[in-house]
Amino acid sequence: MANDRRPDDMVRITTNELADAFIEEQITALREQIGSKKVLLALSGGVDSSVVAAMLIRAVGQQLVCVHVNHGLLRKGEPEQVIEVFRNQMKANLVYVDATDRLLDKLAGVTDPEQKRKSIGGEFIEVFAEEARKLEGIEFLAQGTIWTDILEREKGIKAHHNAGGLPEDMKFELVEPIKLLFKDEVRVVGKALGLPDNMVYRQPFPGPGLGVRCLGAITRDRLEAVRESDTILREEFAKNGLEGKVWQYFTAVPDFRSVGVKDGKRTFAYPVIIRAVNTKDAMTATVENVPFELLQHITARITAEVENVNRVLFDLTPKPSATIEWE
Ligand code: XMP
Repeated sequence: MANDRRPDDMVRITTNELADAFIEEQITALREQIGSKKVLLALSGGVDSSVVAAMLIRAVGQQLVCVHVNHGLLRKGEPEQVIEVFRNQMKANLVYVDATDRLLDKLAGVTDPEQKRKSIGGEFIEVFAEEARKLEGIEFLAQGTIWTDILEREKGIKAHHNAGGLPEDMKFELVEPIKLLFKDEVRVVGKALGLPDNMVYRQPFPGPGLGVRCLGAITRDRLEAVRESDTILREEFAKNGLEGKVWQYFTAVPDFRSVGVKDGKRTFAYPVIIRAVNTKDAMTATVENVPFELLQHITARITAEVENVNRVLFDLTPKPSATIEWE
């Protein structure tokens, strides 16, 4: 699609049939644009880049090179799922890079939220660019840009870091097959492409990942506490019918400790903050009324199973005055 504006009369993709028609149309357009050249994609495993990957695999097969950079700030099981779905099942050409140590070294001691975001985004791009330089004959860069990204970019509210911003000397022609779609349409298209439900209906996850939920300067022990507590929260929300009902839910771990007691001994450990919110457009949000018994159960699990944690707090604040993320 050459057009950069979503036409007012564009049909909203709500059914499998409409998705199939869109996919066919895009496959033809992608083949026309890419020809026999190679195209590169930073595949995070989020809905948008996954849909773009699946579409490009159909359109140009092995001409697509997917690079999955594990920046060490992903949720538990995510890098493994990317490898399973794209390399093992869809037979994609996938380069997997574990940049965890490199990212965490770079972030050591960085406390300012915007600086953290910049460091994560900058280092991510650097790793991706290094991989791209190793590849020969790439002429196109595919991106999972969607319509709301374009609108938010125009409003300039927060520096969202996705795959853009490669070094000046790396000039690729952009391939953005879903840039006119709203998120709900991307999900319908993803389902029609055969992606697993837990990828397609995944809650939003920020580019800087768990990095903005491990508050202040990131340390490995607190990052692990965020990842493990997030896993418990997601498991319990799924078991109790809240998955797919609550828009976004996650945990954050601040950089201070408090006194507690476990097995008759004093502890000095971190709190875990639970956040669960609903919104239409992420510009304002309300707090989900999570049943108290469930919160008590989650608290019991987190304090028993997650190391270095002795307290659980629930964030009662809507947006505004808070933002959804803590940083
Ligand atoms: P806030 O915290 O601004 O978040 O109320 C609104 C929504 O945006 C997500 N978010 C991000 N997504 N890169 C992203 O791709 C980012 O840097 C980023 N910061 C926040 C957040 O998870 C929420 O869904």
